[in-house]
Amino acid sequence: MGEEVKRVKRIKAEGKVVMDYSILTKFIYEKDSHTIDFYREKSSGYKALSKVLTMNPETIIDEVKKSNLRGRGGAGFPTGIKWSLRSKDNRPKYLVCNGDEGEPGTFKDRLLLSRLPHNLIEGMIIAAYALSTHIGYVYLRGEFAKEYRVLEAAIKEAYAARFLGKDILGSSFSFDLYLYRGAGAYICGEETGLLNSLEGKSGRPRIKPPYPAQFGVFGMPTCVNNVETFAVVPWIIREGAEAFANIGTEKSGGSRLFSVSGHITHPGVYELPLTVTLRELIDKCGGVRDGKKLKAVIPGGASSAILTHQEIDVAMDFDSLVKAGTMAGSGAVIVLDETVCIVEAASIILKFFEHESCGQCSQCREGSHWLARIFHRIERGEGTTSDLNLIPEICSNMAGQTICAFADAVTGPALSAIKKFKKEFEEHVFLKGCPFKINNGPNPNGEKELSNVF
Ligand SMILES: Cc1cc2nc3c(=O)[nH]c(=O)nc-3n(C[C@H](O)[C@H](O)[C@H](O)COP(=O)(O)O)c2cc1C
Ligand code: SF4
Repeated sequence: MGEEVKRVKRIKAEGKVVMDYSILTKFIYEKDSHTIDFYREKSSGYKALSKVLTMNPETIIDEVKKSNLRGRGGAGFPTGIKWSLRSKDNRPKYLVCNGDEGEPGTFKDRLLLSRLPHNLIEGMIIAAYALSTHIGYVYLRGEFAKEYRVLEAAIKEAYAARFLGKDILGSSFSFDLYLYRGAGAYICGEETGLLNSLEGKSGRPRIKPPYPAQFGVFGMPTCVNNVETFAVVPWIIREGAEAFANIGTEKSGGSRLFSVSGHITHPGVYELPLTVTLRELIDKCGGVRDGKKLKAVIPGGASSAILTHQEIDVAMDFDSLVKAGTMAGSGAVIVLDETVCIVEAASIILKFFEHESCGQCSQCREGSHWLARIFHRIERGEGTTSDLNLIPEICSNMAGQTICAFADAVTGPALSAIKKFKKEFEEHVFLKGCPFKINNGPNPNGEKELSNVF
């Protein structure tokens, strides 16, 4: 039995598993955690790679399936199933890591990239071997300058140690890994927009089907996974699928990284098992800042539906959050305290989406613009009661009608805001202004404070 399995069993026996388990973050803040020497000495780095090179690719995919690992990029698709859908023809195949991390509130991938680049590299080599792929790309958002430099150096180290390149560790398997920088557009995180961008085209999503598994980058079969998804694979191979599956829920294995921000005492990246509830997560981060009351939480990045303070006894796994009418998304938890005007918060989110729509679909291009204008005018005190009815109507013409899921993402915060905080919207209309500003006097720092949150 591996050391990590024993550790999980011990922690479970002590009844502490909800809070104290870490797979990826155990050494993340230690000096030199980004170097190959540290990774090999402290984290059993590249041992999983040596193990897989003697395994049948099918067995590796089965192991990932059994682990119940679900993609950490947003949709939570089961990784083992994605890998098993690979094309088996003779065309060249590609592996792509999605390091765009554009979802507002999300900052966990950049931590992995700058502190644990070798976890990602090893995970990608294992995936490449399982999928019979010989070329991989890491697509990084343009703003990640430091992460680019760290990863570039780590890739050089991995080549020098013969973990990358021709005939890896004396096997007949070869894999080359390249870095690619985007230009900083949110929509380039959507996997087919990303693939177009990788080809040097405008980063606009493609109509699906065909899916990337059949027609990906350069028209060839391609598997796209998130940074965290790849980074956790070496642990699964080393410690076993069962150990990983045991940490999470029945359908979502493992722990995940949560980026916690907003009005929280200790913002940061937290690694917790997927069984953790939102309430426990907030407590773990020191609770709401300055002893204020909790008003609402955006549990999975700006595209997820808002939860009220009464809805936080929900487990943070993919299925439980869907059941609660929202989604786990990118794992970005944004905490809003009692001082927040939800109309203003939603208006800022919608302004972001209006700006980032790629414009291919009229429902999304016009709808996100229209919603942003309506929310803004309600917030200014210039909205009408008919605006309140218009919001759900516009949303119903956007969700599920477009090339990509961006339009659905816009409707999440818009609909939940008006549904759950209708009274606040009505007050803006009847008072012809923001009740928070009228009752408390204009808050000179209000806009600045909110722009720190989003
Ligand atoms: C508008 C939009 C933006 C997205 N942005 C990201 C992103 O920044 N990073 C990411 O990994 N996935 C993002 N995704 C999800 C990807 O399309 C894709 O599902 C994911 O990279 C697959 O990896 P996974 O299976 O490991 O989660 C986005 C999706 C949409 C619709
Ligand atoms: S839904 Fe929006 S972002 Fe997605 S392709 Fe259509 S216009 Fe572009």
